[in-house]
Amino acid sequence: IQLSAERLRRRYRGQITGDLETFDRCVDTIIRQVGDIGAMVDEFSAFARMPAPRFAEHDAAELLRAAVFAQRVADPDVAIDIEGPKGDATLVCDGRIVGQALANVLKNASEAIAARRALSPGLAGGIRARLAIQGDTLAFEIQDNGVGLPPKDRDRLTEPYVTTREKGTGLGLAIVKRILEDHGGRLDLHDATPPPGACVVLAFPYSHPSPQAAQTNADGRKVRA
Ligand SMILES: Nc1ncnc2c1ncn2[C@@H]1O[C@H](COP(=O)(O)OP(=O)(O)OP(=O)(O)O)[C@@H](O)[C@H]1O
Ligand SMILES: [Mg+2]
Repeated sequence: IQLSAERLRRRYRGQITGDLETFDRCVDTIIRQVGDIGAMVDEFSAFARMPAPRFAEHDAAELLRAAVFAQRVADPDVAIDIEGPKGDATLVCDGRIVGQALANVLKNASEAIAARRALSPGLAGGIRARLAIQGDTLAFEIQDNGVGLPPKDRDRLTEPYVTTREKGTGLGLAIVKRILEDHGGRLDLHDATPPPGACVVLAFPYSHPSPQAAQTNADGRKVRA
């Protein structure tokens, strides 16, 4: 897939007259995500063997934007709004793994909207992807106006193999929960306000940047002390 995408770019980039930026972003997304998938498959063949996170500083807003962009490409029929704080939102995490968690949750939101649309066609479904920093918590809140969480056994939804979808494996939220635990954070599921819909919150521990604590490493990038 990667080689084909690179070939498409080499061969046809010069012929694009319209929206070159979207072409570039889409090809980059394919190449990057296939690379990520390859690395993930290498590292864990099953949920039981999740890779240990490799922590580094990441811009949480950029992680959210990248995941939202990929979901918009996957399902262009569902509008996704991004809201976020201005200024620093540096998260110490494994960026690839947190990207996977966001992707799983955005996919669920989109599927919940598709399920509601199957009942009421023409519904203008939407997702709000919000980044919020409060105290020592940085939270990604993904709210949708889909069918909403099932009324029964809600606390079991994050267990492996629990699914209400015909084609679901039920691993999506179990993986997200595990990722949050590995980062010292937590996963919460609520009803959307206003209903119907669901709001899924990925909360990570956050430490506010302090100028004294920032140092510069060998290649000139800032690191936290
Ligand atoms: N945004 C949401 N709205 C409504 N229900 C949800 C939402 N997210 C998760 N759920 C419920 O939680 C269940 C478990 O989700 P999970 O992501 O673990 O598995 P899945 O989506 O069913 O399968 P997979 O992720 O493997 O495709 C879903 O089947 C669904 O019932
Ligand atoms: Mg899922």
